[in-house]
Amino acid sequence: MVSPSPHVIHARFQPYIRLVFSALLLSTGLTNAIAQTPDAQEVAQTLPNVVILATGGTIAGTGASSTTTVGYTSATVGVDKLIAAVPELKKVANVKGEQVFQIASESMTNDHWLKLAKRVNILLARPDVDGIVITHGTDTIEETAYFLDLTVKSRKPVVIVGAMRPSTALSADGPINLYNAVLLAGSKEAIGKGVLVTLNDQINAAREVTKTNTSTTDTFKSPELGMLGYIQGSKPYFYRQSTRKNTLDTEFDITNLDVLPKVDIVYGYADMNSVALDAQVAAGAKGIIHAGVGDGSIAAQMKEPLIAARKKGVIIVRASRVGQGIVARNGEASDDALDFVVSDTLNAQKARILLMLALTKTNNTKEIQRMFYTY
Ligand code: SIN
Repeated sequence: MVSPSPHVIHARFQPYIRLVFSALLLSTGLTNAIAQTPDAQEVAQTLPNVVILATGGTIAGTGASSTTTVGYTSATVGVDKLIAAVPELKKVANVKGEQVFQIASESMTNDHWLKLAKRVNILLARPDVDGIVITHGTDTIEETAYFLDLTVKSRKPVVIVGAMRPSTALSADGPINLYNAVLLAGSKEAIGKGVLVTLNDQINAAREVTKTNTSTTDTFKSPELGMLGYIQGSKPYFYRQSTRKNTLDTEFDITNLDVLPKVDIVYGYADMNSVALDAQVAAGAKGIIHAGVGDGSIAAQMKEPLIAARKKGVIIVRASRVGQGIVARNGEASDDALDFVVSDTLNAQKARILLMLALTKTNNTKEIQRMFYTY
């Protein structure tokens, strides 16, 4: 029997030799990788610290079944559960949650706003807080956002987020919206951009965003002026910025405020009457937002009641129910002569917020008009 040559032996065992060699390489590589992996504490130190203030809304809502996307109960899930439902948050921020309120946002009041703004300001003054996320019902998200835009005293990111589908729904939008919001609140890109609203992978400015659809997930738009940017692949992309002053650059300070001046809205329509206006003035309104038709027009039968209200000291702001465009000063009414103010491009619900804050500083209509052209 001829014994195999050393070459043949080598060839026969080559695959096994390669296998052992690869295993050795792999184990060494892994050992190195493990040695290089930063421990959890090190990772946490490099992540931003984001506080989530929960206020309720559909993002915290539950429905009877997975296909219930209308007629569900909003504001039932607590902040801890909201956070636990998105374990991916841990990869982008050190997150802490606080339940500030648990309400559907149609029940949001001035008192809620004052409490929320004060809490945000206290938290943002802390060096160990890098950003705030507020979970909120979508119905009044734009109002809370604008109130905070005018009253938060920090350039750190404040991001308000909601959802159009309850947490129990098929394709609930809450988890991804919350993830995006935390990411944005912890990002350098969001610093100094004013209060932001994010849903549907889009970033909008508090002043300009509005709800445009009762139920679809793409409901939030900034008509004509446009959104600020997108969130894609776990990264925010900004393309524009509002030119209006916000946060640290406003003249409003709510630190010692417990109540806001009463301002109401009168809605314009064909054949309207002054019953609502008269009642609001009688109930003590200090300001009225007249959401007129078209370019903020005033019906003939409304002129005298508005003039009478102004003579009683009530500030009248002409806004438009149209929702887009500038209300022209001295256009559809002689604002100088009537001593009225125009809302610029603010919709009626946001004009109400600015007028309330303006009235904490002055009753002078020229000054108030300046504020409407500034914020
Ligand atoms: C609410 O605004 O609280 C209910 C509606 C929603 O969050 O989408």
